[in-house]
Amino acid sequence: LTGYITLDTGYKNTGATKSAITFLDGEQGILRYRGYSIEQLAEKSTFMEVAFLLIYGELPTEKQIADFEHEISHHTLVHEDMKKFFDGFPSHSHPMGQLGSLVCSLSAFYPESLKNNQTEEEINLTIIKMLAKMSTIVSWIYKKSFGHPVIYPQNKYDYVSNFLHMTFGQRTEEVAVDPVLVDVMNKLLILHADHEQNCSTSTVRIVGSSDCNLYASISAGISALWGPLHGGANQAVIEMLEQIKNDGGDTQKWIAKAKDKNDSFRLMGFGHRVYKNFDPRAKIIKKACDDVLEKLGVNDPVLAIAKQLEEVALKDEYFVQRKLYPNVDFYSGIIYRALGFPTEMFTVLFALGRLPGWIAQWKEMKVNKEPIGRPRQVYTGSTFREYVEMKGR
Ligand code: SDX
Repeated sequence: LTGYITLDTGYKNTGATKSAITFLDGEQGILRYRGYSIEQLAEKSTFMEVAFLLIYGELPTEKQIADFEHEISHHTLVHEDMKKFFDGFPSHSHPMGQLGSLVCSLSAFYPESLKNNQTEEEINLTIIKMLAKMSTIVSWIYKKSFGHPVIYPQNKYDYVSNFLHMTFGQRTEEVAVDPVLVDVMNKLLILHADHEQNCSTSTVRIVGSSDCNLYASISAGISALWGPLHGGANQAVIEMLEQIKNDGGDTQKWIAKAKDKNDSFRLMGFGHRVYKNFDPRAKIIKKACDDVLEKLGVNDPVLAIAKQLEEVALKDEYFVQRKLYPNVDFYSGIIYRALGFPTEMFTVLFALGRLPGWIAQWKEMKVNKEPIGRPRQVYTGSTFREYVEMKGR
């Protein structure tokens, strides 16, 4: 590249691909999966129905969703030898590090995923196994974080109930079909299911573009999501709210810190690369937060702090000028905590929700036979230099 062009690093304005999966309008705050609004899907659909929609492009018929769920439930068991990996992690190791490692290891147990030129059926079987085993792996990571024995999946349950059974089943058998838990888990997973070419999805696509297997591509996406500027923000939000609570709850003081250029503190859960209006998901999750905490009889003091922070920030010139609004991560952690998840598990739950979107985007890239991703750069380094012998340095 010659001459000088102003380059916005961080893929800030790069059209990386063509995709028919998710439509996002950041100015209007619009989010649609295959043309269906996130508001209607969150209200009327289930996570598995949305997964089918994202991956295969259409809302399933009754028979299609029954077959889909049946196939998935019969692949929820992970190879027993994987427990040796679980047991190998130190008890304090971060769940996202465990998740990325365990998902990547799936190709060792299911080597058909490594076959070149897979048929559509073979690709689809790997997709089913990825969806099925993710919920088991996530729930087993949760159990391990408490040193509890794992709970095995039961084919009689649908996806979300099976996840609740494997995660909280030692409480009561009814927990798997508790309407409040089933409804809020479906809603949260739907709201996280896809989001166009975000950091982790772009990672899944570029790793997959080298013809890398699905498990390793998803594992790469998990690593990208871990960062506190991306999916890791839901954990960082709760840690921030706890810090403000323990500091006496003075939200004005922390808003001032977030505006101070000399202070590295940022209001976690606020701002977005694309949304310059309210993140539509944040609106739905905020309402769900009130509903669920009331139904569960949970009174979490950080919810009041979150609402106060939002109210103060939305009137503050600094945030208004920069169009900084609450994003998907601002309220989600409060619900996860009310359900009984430890903070370190929040981003793992984000990954569980995002999985169908990552799979759909990876599949679309393969179906469209996209070439290997290989961006260019603006070179800013030294021009040619002769080698200097050690004595001359
Ligand atoms: C997700 O891309 C996706 O779709 C992601 C996601 C998905 O579903 O996949 O939506 C999920 O990752 C949501 C975002 C979660 N992250 C956070 O909540 C972390 C806190 N937010 C920020 O770090 C930030 O807003 C980003 C990373 C989300 C976006 O950063 P950008 O677009 O690169 O914006 P920027 O860093 O260029 O900031 C622009 C201005 C700067 O100030 P000035 O230089 O103009 O003076 O806004 C300021 C920033 O300092 N700013 C903030 C801020 N976010 C931006 N100031 C205080 N607090 C914040 N949170």
